[in-house]
Amino acid sequence: MTWAYRTFLRPLLFRQESEKIHNLTLQRLAWASRHPLACSALASFYQPAPLPVELFGLKFPNPVGLAAGMDKKAEAVPAWAAMGFGFSELGGVTWHAQPGNPTPRMFRAVAEQALINRMGFNNSGAEALARRLAEWRNQGRWPEHPVGINLGKSKITPLDEAATDYASSLRVLWPHADFFVVNVSSPNTPNLRQLQDKAALNEILAALQEVNLSLSRSSPTPQPLKPILVKVAPDLSFPALDEILELTEPRQVAGIVATNTTIVRPTTDQVELQRVYAEAGGLSGHPLAKRSTEVIRHLYRQTGGKLPIIGVGGILNAADAWEKIAAGASLVQIYTGLVYEGPGVVREIVGGLRSRLLADGFTNLPQAVGCEARGDKPL
Ligand SMILES: Cc1cc2nc3c(=O)[nH]c(=O)nc-3n(C[C@H](O)[C@H](O)[C@H](O)COP(=O)(O)O)c2cc1C
Repeated sequence: MTWAYRTFLRPLLFRQESEKIHNLTLQRLAWASRHPLACSALASFYQPAPLPVELFGLKFPNPVGLAAGMDKKAEAVPAWAAMGFGFSELGGVTWHAQPGNPTPRMFRAVAEQALINRMGFNNSGAEALARRLAEWRNQGRWPEHPVGINLGKSKITPLDEAATDYASSLRVLWPHADFFVVNVSSPNTPNLRQLQDKAALNEILAALQEVNLSLSRSSPTPQPLKPILVKVAPDLSFPALDEILELTEPRQVAGIVATNTTIVRPTTDQVELQRVYAEAGGLSGHPLAKRSTEVIRHLYRQTGGKLPIIGVGGILNAADAWEKIAAGASLVQIYTGLVYEGPGVVREIVGGLRSRLLADGFTNLPQAVGCEARGDKPL
């Protein structure tokens, strides 16, 4: 299935500007999302065999999720489940609606299966997102997989008011998602990454957990706290990552999403790649895979495997996904892999993971998590 996409469809799509194709694809998936028959058709093509995982008190039909940034406005919520994703992370959303950076702001580095983007959190704001999510639910179109929301900081909000900005978004979105991810690692909002500093992040997490606790208590029926995760940059040093880990217990962080895009560029002699790599923004896809896996392995070892990690960065096939799991990821996510390999990639990855588990003598996925980081099994 991915072969057919790469051979026939991708060359046609890649003739046009990256964001234009992204928007067109999303429009079609939004249409399919409103038509149950279209979703059933998608499911009949793309639904993978089950590979269930239970984490954060949530049931995931398989461990392969949609990464943040693909569906910032929740336009195609039912379609992601129909395409076989085991969960989806919507957003990034900010408290204030904002247009993002001027276009063009998304670029393909085809020879290295990579993208550079400087979208800058273009989104319609937390309240609009909450309304959209309520609509999906009211129409009976809510997907049968966990849905997370990626929270960013509004560009107009000064850094020292970031905690209030994030908390305002959580307050209106809290009833609408199963888990939340604090994004302090996008390179495309000026100075956002400074919020990964321990003191700043501590303040944000404190504000978020206060909202979390008060809404869980004031729900008509008692509700558990929503899992809140932190998404980190691949460009953080190991000591800086360790400082973030110091916050996870006191602030009840449910897990880490590792990683966001990188501002580092590979060296290359190819002129076309040099031209793309000169663009400002975050690099995703194949060149990010190695560093992202290193970060996952470090986090897994530092926490003794006790803190769940969602592994993301350069996963294009089952072998890439296995590397992340063996390094310590309990779940994985893809963005760029979907662009380069097409919608069949989820089914291929899940199928490949099932085969690999069997070949290595594991009876379930959690057994395999961190096997390489622990030194139990070489890759
Ligand atoms: C166009 C684009 C937009 C993105 N927007 C967000 C975002 O809003 N929030 C976020 O946390 N990550 C965002 N990301 C990062 C992805 O979620 C992911 O962490 C990164 O691309 C690495 O995964 P990949 O190599 O599978 O693409 C974006 C990535 C791309 C390519």
